[in-house]
Amino acid sequence: MLQNKTAVITGATSGIGAAYASKFAQQGYDLIITGRRKEKIEATATQIRQKYNVNVDVILTELSETEEIKNLTDFMKEKEIGVLVNNAGFGANSLYQTSDLTIMEQLAKVNVIAPMELIHAVLPGMVVRGKGTIINISSESVYMIIPKNAVYTAAKSFLKSFTEGLHLDLMGTGVKVMAVCPGLTHTDFHEKMGMEKSRQINKGQIKWMSPEEVVDISLRDMKKGKVVCIPGNHTKMLTHLLNMMPRRIYYKFMYNFSCKNFGKKNKTE
Ligand SMILES: NC(=O)c1ccc[n+]([C@@H]2O[C@H](COP(=O)([O-])OP(=O)(O)OC[C@H]3O[C@@H](n4cnc5c(N)ncnc54)[C@H](OP(=O)(O)O)[C@@H]3O)[C@@H](O)[C@H]2O)c1
Repeated sequence: MLQNKTAVITGATSGIGAAYASKFAQQGYDLIITGRRKEKIEATATQIRQKYNVNVDVILTELSETEEIKNLTDFMKEKEIGVLVNNAGFGANSLYQTSDLTIMEQLAKVNVIAPMELIHAVLPGMVVRGKGTIINISSESVYMIIPKNAVYTAAKSFLKSFTEGLHLDLMGTGVKVMAVCPGLTHTDFHEKMGMEKSRQINKGQIKWMSPEEVVDISLRDMKKGKVVCIPGNHTKMLTHLLNMMPRRIYYKFMYNFSCKNFGKKNKTE
């Protein structure tokens, strides 16, 4: 038998995914959350259950593995999925020419294949019911391409274009889709790539947001009917200005800016 409305959030161990999980639990949704760090995601689930009194299922899932995605979609079939947030993702921070191809492929699978499969699993039900919400977490890097991120940026660009294409396919069905393109956000993301938390500070043009701000702005934009959300006026203005530059100047600017602020020189170490 189908149960209460359920929100599925991938990558809810920490950061933006955990913030979406809290937000939808607060709105009364039961949750299916995924992640890989068992203790941490169980702690997130316990906190949410205690605070919001909703059902939270934790499915440990490696989203670059087809079989594990299938386990997740099989589990989802038992519920009425009202919301799907494709949030899980990681960055690699390496020159493509010296990168580990397996990791690059995993990056593409987590950001491209997993969302495609999860969306394909939930859409038929949503379309029949005439309602549902799909949120795909892309990135400001779609607009601000920096060195050592070629596959990440390309995968996030796929997610944004895919969302806009889906929006056209779903017009008139009642199902809403949105791509969120956050700028720098305080989560575990950058630390996993070797950037200590103490370096994650506002400096000049560099501004950091909280995951809760990203989530609140995205849900506000969703209500306004936006299909692509760039959270934060600062990020919005910066991406707009950068994309007005002639491409040749843009490449030079982004390369120098990244070297200065993130140490992203094209050395092949
Ligand atoms: N933070 C930023 O500045 C920023 C900016 C733009 C876009 N984003 C995007 O925002 C999304 C959320 O990231 P976050 O910033 O909140 O970072 P985070 O705190 O590191 O959370 C990332 C989540 O994705 C999960 N994940 C990563 N790789 C996975 C894999 N191979 N299989 C399954 N799950 C995986 C992680 O699970 P475990 O930790 O349990 O392994 C974790 O739950 C990502 O898609 C990221 O690309 C982040």
